[in-house]
Amino acid sequence: MLEPKLQESLDRQINAELYSSYLYLSMAAHLEAENFRGMAQWMRAQSGEETAHAMKIYDYVLERNGRVTLARIDGPKTKWASPLELFEDAYAHEQKVTAMINNLMDLAVEEKDHASHDFLEWFVTEQVEEESNASAIVEQLKLVGDSGVGLYMIDQQLGQRTPSTSAAE
Ligand code: FEO
Repeated sequence: MLEPKLQESLDRQINAELYSSYLYLSMAAHLEAENFRGMAQWMRAQSGEETAHAMKIYDYVLERNGRVTLARIDGPKTKWASPLELFEDAYAHEQKVTAMINNLMDLAVEEKDHASHDFLEWFVTEQVEEESNASAIVEQLKLVGDSGVGLYMIDQQLGQRTPSTSAAE
């Protein structure tokens, strides 16, 4: 069984991952509207990954004979001034998610819940990748500035990302 405090925090993490999915889908919709199709595809794939993250935690809670309690998902921002502002928001959001995962890990250690510690290690590693990906795109966008050719090339490059097929990548 899961300790109540850990159970609550895992529920909150499910909500945060679903919010991430909703936020990135909102970013994808904005990018589509601005004709950045490749960036939109990248964000749409990211949105799918976030849903998979939420389900990975959902399944873990069930495996531990816990009870998932879902809460309301906040509405995301819907417009951004530029692709740079949008990806800066995505990077800042990933940093917040990392802090939440670290807090969850601290709690698992505090509660001496070795199974949760083991489970959360996957998310710790994943967050390194998530932050690194978002930060790299921010840096590329800073580099090209307002250059139409530069933005076009980044859009083409990000459009090569395909949706992941595994349960949670
Ligand atoms: Fe599931 Fe991007 O954190």
